[in-house]
Amino acid sequence: MSSRAIVTGGAGFIGSHVVDALLADGYAVSVIDDLSSGDAARVAAEAELVELDIVDAGALCAAIEERRPSAVFHLAAQASVVVSVEDPGRDCEVNVRGTLNVLDAAGRCGAPVVFTSTGGALYGDAAPRPTSEERIPAPLSPYGASKWAAEAYVNTWSLSSGIPHAVCRLGNVYGPRQSPHGEAGVVAIFSERVHTGRAPTLYGHGTPTRDYVYVGDVVSALRAACGRAGTYNIATGVETDVSTIWRELSDAAGKHVEPQLADLRPGELEHSCLDIARAERELGWRPHVPIREGLRITYDALVRELEGR
Ligand SMILES: NC(=O)c1ccc[n+]([C@@H]2O[C@H](COP(=O)([O-])OP(=O)(O)OC[C@H]3O[C@@H](n4cnc5c(N)ncnc54)[C@H](O)[C@@H]3O)[C@@H](O)[C@H]2O)c1
Repeated sequence: MSSRAIVTGGAGFIGSHVVDALLADGYAVSVIDDLSSGDAARVAAEAELVELDIVDAGALCAAIEERRPSAVFHLAAQASVVVSVEDPGRDCEVNVRGTLNVLDAAGRCGAPVVFTSTGGALYGDAAPRPTSEERIPAPLSPYGASKWAAEAYVNTWSLSSGIPHAVCRLGNVYGPRQSPHGEAGVVAIFSERVHTGRAPTLYGHGTPTRDYVYVGDVVSALRAACGRAGTYNIATGVETDVSTIWRELSDAAGKHVEPQLADLRPGELEHSCLDIARAERELGWRPHVPIREGLRITYDALVRELEGR
């Protein structure tokens, strides 16, 4: 009988790629997702979809205990910075209480948890770049605060139970299946804009930089972190500015539209770049997809999706 893995948030952008990778490796996979931002159509037919809210401790515990997983990939989250500002209470419930519920339920099965935290929203503008995990977080948003609080539970539960739970602090993840309709996900938003010939807005006049990491590389990192107790930055260590992202996507599409420029929005960072030396050393992981190649793959996938191919 194959081992079972549970992926919370498996109907989301990153989670659905984790599901596909686990299925390809022969795992039986159960997705736990309330479909609040996810889409059941993203979940592979071979995976089971259990629709529930991770804040509901009783239902979550029953669902996990019944399936006796050997690993839990915990990606379900309130993942919007804007929503976290509008409703910090719900953000806290899902990201902190929900994570605690996942840890409790996984612990009953002795299953290690891999938790997806954020690199971009934790460290703040004053941090030296590339920023290492040693830097004390200084989040600017409730989202960053709730992820940091949840990290503390993951680490404490790991220490007290002896089950090796991991924290992965992700950079700006991009790739196929990311929604172009959110507030973040600049690659998906720009891909849609360039395809439809509409000008995007480049906040911060196109100069802010981020550490963009391809979703396939994130999936391999999460797999490598499973069963390891520790906190790892998962990114590329390379900064790319927003203007470059727009230019590369325009080149991929063979279309050129003049972008609109605007000031940075409140709470947005100027620069973010993560030091990935610890993940390279301890997980034997490194990213493989260069930004130009990843952008082209993402653009082509979005065009296929929009044209229903
Ligand atoms: N995309 C990025 O660049 C990025 C960067 C850093 C961290 N992360 C983290 O990675 C994880 C996945 O992000 P994503 O970009 O795939 O987001 P996403 O919104 O596409 O996926 C999140 C999934 O969680 C589900 N969900 C939300 N609340 C839930 C609840 N209460 N109960 C059950 N399911 C719930 C949603 O329906 C969705 O399917 C999140 O934890 C996010 O904070 C993402």
